[in-house]
Amino acid sequence: MFNTMTVTKTAAALIGSLLFLLLVSWFASSLYHVGFSGHVAEGEEIPQAYRIPVEGGEDAGAEEAAAEEGPDFATLLASADAAAGEKAFGKCKSCHKLDGNNAVGPHLDGVVGRDVASVEDFSYSDAMAAHEGAWTPEELNAFITNPKEHVPGTKMAFAGIKSAEERANLVAYLQTAN
Ligand code: HEC
Repeated sequence: MFNTMTVTKTAAALIGSLLFLLLVSWFASSLYHVGFSGHVAEGEEIPQAYRIPVEGGEDAGAEEAAAEEGPDFATLLASADAAAGEKAFGKCKSCHKLDGNNAVGPHLDGVVGRDVASVEDFSYSDAMAAHEGAWTPEELNAFITNPKEHVPGTKMAFAGIKSAEERANLVAYLQTAN
């Protein structure tokens, strides 16, 4: 009833249609690819289409670090240029002397490490008199960045020095002025 030719034709048709289905499904999956099926090495992160930022999450630290500008003050001070600081002190000279005499402001000899508002014969503002601590390099840096913000109510009429490098140079110079 079936000759060899019929069997062969039927088999060929069957295999052919299977092959066709296989090709269609392969083609479709290459068009509509969902999810990640690539190879990921151990410990590696699966690439995400997008990230949802979580407060305090791994992205937060990176952002904070990026927001911080430049090296910290101690680093700047370590490589500061006292000679350049002497020039920067020109901004203070109209009010501060380094020879032990008070002017508009108290003398600044040995000010680095000196207690705040400790020059006996200078009449400080109440704000400065109430400001605790000593003029460490960090305190000086904070004060000359923005005097009125660091010691609200101070009578030092000075806007501040914006450049961190210039402030570091100035503090380095004041360290030499004992
Ligand atoms: C316009 C005048 C003026 C200028 C400019 C000025 N100061 Fe002063 N400074 C003062 C006065 C006045 C005080 C006293 C502040 C108070 O009692 O509130 C003072 C206080 C200080 C103190 C505190 C001293 C202490 O004995 O506690 C420091 C430190 C200081 N100045 C540093 C500087 C530096 C550094 C500069 C330059 C970048 C500068 N000042 C520029 C007027 C000035």
